[in-house]
Amino acid sequence: MADNTTDTKSSNQMWGGRFASGPDAIMEEINASIGFDKKLFAQDIRGSIAHATMLAHQGIISGDDKDKIVHGLNTILSEIEGGNFEFSRQLEDIHMNIEARLATLIGPAAGRLHTARSRNDQVALDFRLWVKEELEKTEQMLTGLIAAFLDRAEEHAESVMPGFTHLQTAQPVTFGHHCMAYVEMFGRDRARVRHAIEHLDESPIGAAALAGTGYPIDRHMTAKALGFREPTRNSIDTVSDRDFAIEFLSIAAIAGMHLSRLAEEIVIWSTPQFGFVRLSDAFSTGSSIMPQKKNPDAAELVRAKTGRINGSLVALLTIMKGLPLAYSKDMQEDKEQVFDAAESLELAIAAMTGMVRDMTVNTARMKAAAGSGYSTATDLADWLVREAGLPFRDAHHVTGRAVALAESKGCDLAELPLSDLQAIHADITDKVYDVLTVEASVASRKSFGGTAPSEVRRQIAFWRARN
Ligand code: ARG
Repeated sequence: MADNTTDTKSSNQMWGGRFASGPDAIMEEINASIGFDKKLFAQDIRGSIAHATMLAHQGIISGDDKDKIVHGLNTILSEIEGGNFEFSRQLEDIHMNIEARLATLIGPAAGRLHTARSRNDQVALDFRLWVKEELEKTEQMLTGLIAAFLDRAEEHAESVMPGFTHLQTAQPVTFGHHCMAYVEMFGRDRARVRHAIEHLDESPIGAAALAGTGYPIDRHMTAKALGFREPTRNSIDTVSDRDFAIEFLSIAAIAGMHLSRLAEEIVIWSTPQFGFVRLSDAFSTGSSIMPQKKNPDAAELVRAKTGRINGSLVALLTIMKGLPLAYSKDMQEDKEQVFDAAESLELAIAAMTGMVRDMTVNTARMKAAAGSGYSTATDLADWLVREAGLPFRDAHHVTGRAVALAESKGCDLAELPLSDLQAIHADITDKVYDVLTVEASVASRKSFGGTAPSEVRRQIAFWRARN
């Protein structure tokens, strides 16, 4: 008996015409993508329904066959959704698993579905639809994160905290202003997401294997039915392009980088040494050996997810690098990278939105820290410029001497007696003490985009109108 009669060795029913025997076990293992591309079942069925409907509309298949195909595909959709579908690795991928099942359900009419199409444009379509939906979900999730920050910023428009550069106390800022910095960052991420949706909004189906097709198809019709703005313009590019996936990954990498900076700040702020915020039990864990510990694990994991997302971006860039046009099987490796990054990004945004909403802000602690480290030194220098007419460079020098004196006495600038200040510069009067408080410092920074509570409220209003 010929060994190609056994199940594992028979040639593929979709493309096996010229094959005498089936694949080696390792071939099957390296070739199959069903393990991960089954995630695309809904997109695949949507695409096939649109394609079959167009084929019938153009008179390429009969209306009767189209009806059978559509009915069969809808049955398969509910089978998969209901967990009643058996995926087969021998059938390689989601496209052939669905088509084989269709043949079982409706017979020979199933064979007409693949007219004027190839798996190359089919997979490009399915994956594009999936990435488009993921981008739309990301847009919504970023909107939720921005909303959380807007609420916290409003609540803390006047709460003073130290602003840092080099992680050294720089100048007092408001916590609201700091929150609004993240709104700007995630707002840019969301703008990138919207831009990417516009970029990918072209339908690949109908590019066929790479050269288009001789059948009188209507690609504008399928594009419209699938919610795309228009069809792609070059069939070769269409089946060899994965820019939309790489754009998703690069946006995810940038957003992940932003999320990791926030995560790091939450880790620092929640240490007993800083004590700026306290995470609730809902977003922390304990230690199995040290009973006093409350660890910011969620923030740490968000920080780490960024590494995975970056890995996916580099992986796909590397997979695509140097590939000749048009389709190559290398491109099958695109999906796991995108699926993994999407899952990581969703988790990271959700966890961060939760933490931002949930953390308790210790305003007393922040204010005390804001006043230490001579954070109002710049305010003293600015006062000398404004009130005593000194050039800024001289004022900087005078202030430096005042800081050195305060440091040697172990006190704050505001605690230096007037006589000490006047010994450094004779024009200093007791009016100077008005600008040495942290509240006065932040209130004075009214420049557009500055940290003054009035400016922060303006920034909040700007974003509320856009969120
Ligand atoms: N599973 C394949 C992928 O994910 C589908 C396209 C296969 N095309 C082909 N000519 N073998 O890329």
